[in-house]
Amino acid sequence: MSCLSEVIPDHVVEFIQGMLPERTALMQRIEAECRAEYIPLVEPEVGQFLQVLLNIKKAVRILEIGTGIGYSSILLASSFGTLKGHITTIEIDRDRYARACDNIREAGLAELITPLCGDANEVIPSLVGTFDFVFMDAAKGQYPEFFLKFWPYLEPGGLIVIDNIFLNGWVIDMTWPERRKKTMVCRVRELLEMLKKHEGLLTSIMPLGDGLAVSVRR
Ligand SMILES: C[S@@+](CC[C@H](N)C(=O)[O-])C[C@H]1O[C@@H](n2cnc3c(N)ncnc32)[C@H](O)[C@@H]1O
Repeated sequence: MSCLSEVIPDHVVEFIQGMLPERTALMQRIEAECRAEYIPLVEPEVGQFLQVLLNIKKAVRILEIGTGIGYSSILLASSFGTLKGHITTIEIDRDRYARACDNIREAGLAELITPLCGDANEVIPSLVGTFDFVFMDAAKGQYPEFFLKFWPYLEPGGLIVIDNIFLNGWVIDMTWPERRKKTMVCRVRELLEMLKKHEGLLTSIMPLGDGLAVSVRR
């Protein structure tokens, strides 16, 4: 039997998930599709935390790196409330991008979310304007590059949320189940060291989902 998290005890994850409000039929359908097709998406408790942060910060210019099929973009945009917010989200996979566009339309959020198809390394430098909230949830081995690319676009006081920084606990123990995962683990650890030493950032590591790093630009 597989466990819910390699780091957090199952009964704690179950408790936290049991305290979440019920998701809409659309979100439950996307969750089920992702489970069936092994498409990664944020854990619902991470989605909830993103919504809380967004509401505390009152963020309105959001950049998401890693759209998947639109689950986290929809969660974020549906918590804007009266805020006049907008999300730019980047996905490299054409099929996922197309499905995200469909899901975002179905959620009635097409005016609040701009999905872009391409490699975030190439797309970010072409973006116009600044962001007050960046959610990074794409290729873990490229996290340091993504960070360096979006950093000039982050406003003072802006938040960065980075998902999967535990990578099943491998980043904590600096172990990897197979050699080809080593680079990814080392790159995530490298990013965390960058955040720790960065004079322009204040960072907190949180044991939620597969690990989150939350930073604020000073
Ligand atoms: C964890 S999934 C995103 C899940 C999404 N945030 C959600 O919760 O619904 C990561 C996505 O990043 C995409 N990705 C990987 N490398 C990328 C890159 N260089 N640029 C843009 N997207 C990338 C993958 O195709 C994948 O769909």
